[in-house]
Amino acid sequence: MTSRTDEATARALADPQGFWGEAAKQIHWFKTWDRVLDDSRPPFYRWFTGGVVNTCYNALDRHVEAGRGEQVALVYDSPVTGTIQKFTYKQMRDEVARTAGMLAGLGVHKGDRVLLYMPMVPQAVIAMLACARLGAVHSVVFGGFAPNELATRINDAKPKVILSASCGIEVQRVIPYKPLLDQAIELATAKPQACVILQRPMQRAERVAGRDHDWDELLARAKPHDCVAVAATDPLYILYTSGTTGIPKGVVRDNGGHMVALKWSMTNIYDVKPGETWFTASDIGWVVGHSYIVYAPLLQGAITILYEGKPVGTPDAGAFWRVISQHKAVAMFTAPTGFRAIKRDDPRGELIKKYDLSKFRTLFLAGERCDPDTLHWAEDHLRVPVIDHWWQTETGWSIAANCVGLERLPVKAGSPTKAVPGYDLRVLDTAGHEVKRGEIGALAVKLPLPPGSLPTLWNNDEGFKNSYLAEFPGYYKTADAGFIDEDGYVFVMARTDDIINVAGHRLSTGGMEEVLASHPDVAECAVMGVADELKGQVPVGMVVLKAGVTKPDEQVCKELVALVRDKIGPVASFKTATVVKRLPKTRSGKILRGTMQKIADSQEYRMPATIDDPAILDEIRESLRGVGYAKG
Ligand code: COA
Ligand code: AMP
Repeated sequence: MTSRTDEATARALADPQGFWGEAAKQIHWFKTWDRVLDDSRPPFYRWFTGGVVNTCYNALDRHVEAGRGEQVALVYDSPVTGTIQKFTYKQMRDEVARTAGMLAGLGVHKGDRVLLYMPMVPQAVIAMLACARLGAVHSVVFGGFAPNELATRINDAKPKVILSASCGIEVQRVIPYKPLLDQAIELATAKPQACVILQRPMQRAERVAGRDHDWDELLARAKPHDCVAVAATDPLYILYTSGTTGIPKGVVRDNGGHMVALKWSMTNIYDVKPGETWFTASDIGWVVGHSYIVYAPLLQGAITILYEGKPVGTPDAGAFWRVISQHKAVAMFTAPTGFRAIKRDDPRGELIKKYDLSKFRTLFLAGERCDPDTLHWAEDHLRVPVIDHWWQTETGWSIAANCVGLERLPVKAGSPTKAVPGYDLRVLDTAGHEVKRGEIGALAVKLPLPPGSLPTLWNNDEGFKNSYLAEFPGYYKTADAGFIDEDGYVFVMARTDDIINVAGHRLSTGGMEEVLASHPDVAECAVMGVADELKGQVPVGMVVLKAGVTKPDEQVCKELVALVRDKIGPVASFKTATVVKRLPKTRSGKILRGTMQKIADSQEYRMPATIDDPAILDEIRESLRGVGYAKG
């Protein structure tokens, strides 16, 4: 018997124009599209060409005009500052309109870029929507990135204005953001015309005369700005994500297709209705934050929670249950790593019993593979369906999911269920041929990608083609490997590139190797992601020192850990480096990172046939034991 998901998938693939044209009726268009799917320039596909829209209008104004103005739109719940603040749709619209006026007053127009380096405060969400209101393109950079990473993004996006705050708060630590921003602007070659700084009372920031403005002062003088009509295909935002080198990729999101896909997903994947409360515990610096803290719940007319806290420590492992119960959330979305932290601190789920979770229907997890232990723990203690779903910054919404709004399919532990309608997901061998059901291969999506997925990289069509489309012509390469079973369930097993997933954060080991290699004492290095009980993976660096280095190994390792923190940021969680005499390589000189990672994780491995000297692997095992790995 075919399921409703299978039927929707079949319809979306057989008649994308009809399927997505129908879904697009849920969005308000200033002018409807000429073509639903514009396939005139393959491999570049565009959705809703000729359509004219505004994302902010659909997220806010439209609901106010339809009588939803007094309903809460956003709940700011911040245990780190002891604040709970609610904004109705009308209040959000008015705040966003004034913030748009503030940006316009600084010369920001349609198409200009505005970069945000901000903690999880309402002004950050308001500013994102204000950019959307003006047709300006926002680029949010996660606060855990160091000035060097921020500078790389400034150079690529060339923002006219940067919005930031004096500080962020990590549990009980105040992290001054402003010095990091100042350093980044110093390092960057593209300088912004102005910065607007939100002064938080925990730590105020010094302003640079002539460049920096005070957020509150500027806003007090600003006049509300109306929504600017943009083409459906115009960019809404750029979000940088780790690529296979230290240079991040600027993923572009459009306006029209993005709205259509997200609105469809709120109903059909997440089953959240207008007026219901939805809780995504992520950060606005990540794609999950963009799509499911900000845009999707507001497009749906739901209530979204902006949570400035952690799963544990703010104040305890019951924090999520407190938020769900206090705001009557019907569903929640977070990464499995957060649940592993909760499980570690409250293994028997005692804190769950303290709260009334009677309104809570579904838990959604994504961002990394959901290990069956975490899945079962959450199912047993919460007694609601726990839905793993798979997606990427590039796609903006899920590639595979259990679409509970369409129907709830049986859960298979370790699988994010089936390809979502719109994604023609295939498993390919290295020659690009489809493999049999159950066989592992490269997970690839037959073009075109559905609405909402990236149309290209910022100012880099060639990079888009080379990174995603070149290896398997006619397909988008997800860079994940996995298989599809007889029932059509997808299993995502591993990345096929050098990306690792640390606490749900995506990082490039290549980027970290570039940093290690820049240390004057390092001759050669390799970074690999090794298994970690809490974070899923953590990076471990192996370095060979230059001849004649007299410094103790421990000293060099300490410097390397500090260097990665300084160049990439604390988010890299790079805490372990070890010195080895040599690195294992193939006869052609390729470093055998995969073999070293298996040794570190005490997994079985096959001796690579092309290894130049097998004895090196014993040395590597010894070194890894010295830093707490390869114990099995
Ligand atoms: N600004 C500044 N620093 C930040 C930061 C931010 N926004 N976010 C994280 N950091 C810092 C942390 O303080 C930590 O610093 P430290 O090395 O000095 O301790 C470092 O970056 C690593 O952070 P993280 O990987 O988050 O580890 P953690 O030990 O602080 O917390 C978890 C572990 C599991 C509780 C945490 O990772 C978590 O809540 N994960 C949820 C994941 C998530 O939301 N993913 C988004 C995709 S859905
Ligand atoms: P990001 O772009 O940061 O969202 O990271 C995307 C990557 O995270 C994917 O390519 C996968 O490697 C991994 N990922 C995300 N969700 C899942 C999931 N549900 N199961 C397995 N891997 C996942």
